[in-house]
Amino acid sequence: MDTAPGPGNDVFDFDGDYGEGYEALARQVIPGYRTFFPMFTAIIEPDLPPHGRVLVVGAGTGIELIALKRARPDLRLHGVDPSEQMLRIAERRVADAGLESGVSYQLGYTRDVPPTPRFDAATLINVLHFVPDNGAKAALLHDIARRLRPGAVFVLFDLHGDPGSEEHERYMPAWRRYWRIRGMTQEEIAAFDERIRHGIHFAPPGRVLELARDAGFTDPQRFFKGMLYGGWTFRRAGG
Ligand SMILES: C[S@@+](CC[C@H](N)C(=O)[O-])C[C@H]1O[C@@H](n2cnc3c(N)ncnc32)[C@H](O)[C@@H]1O
Repeated sequence: MDTAPGPGNDVFDFDGDYGEGYEALARQVIPGYRTFFPMFTAIIEPDLPPHGRVLVVGAGTGIELIALKRARPDLRLHGVDPSEQMLRIAERRVADAGLESGVSYQLGYTRDVPPTPRFDAATLINVLHFVPDNGAKAALLHDIARRLRPGAVFVLFDLHGDPGSEEHERYMPAWRRYWRIRGMTQEEIAAFDERIRHGIHFAPPGRVLELARDAGFTDPQRFFKGMLYGGWTFRRAGG
């Protein structure tokens, strides 16, 4: 049990229309979307051994794969995603960029990835917020931790928040204004707001840290905060 039914969930259907226009929308609504990927790559690069293996969970349209491979052509990347449509786009984009050597793909969930050999790093970017906190977020983080060697670096980025809290009520309306400033029509804003309301499983940052710790991750370093988005690096505990 590591997700709601389907790739994403029934509100954000990555095998349907949402997946098709995903990247344009992501650039419009996620603060720093374009620069986030080279930024996290720069942060973790010293932790990636020569020819290191990186597990990219929720590889989507391939933006992590491209950022990592551009910076470090020696890396071996494994992208896993339950959406066939998203994986196909990723495969095509990686090939178009001439970066396909050492990149593999798996249609499915993290639990389907062989547990050995263990990876040197993993990313989980814009995924965990689609997964309910009913044991499913915990299961996904455990599935990733089990596939990492001790000391491996783990990058986590998604939406966090505590609906009703002062901070959430300040940034949620600000985020809606951001969508307008970034060019969404009132109709698009209303429709996207509905999707967020029903399809995003917000967890407060403290809860995310607790889930990560329980899954076996240590040394949380917050390297990004943009309204309700947050990013940390962790290390796989053990030694
Ligand atoms: C919003 S996209 C993010 C793609 C990419 N990481 C990015 O930031 O652009 C979310 C992706 O996660 C995938 N996904 C949804 N649930 C998942 C799960 N439990 N495990 C792995 N991937 C999942 C979806 O199919 C989709 O491709």
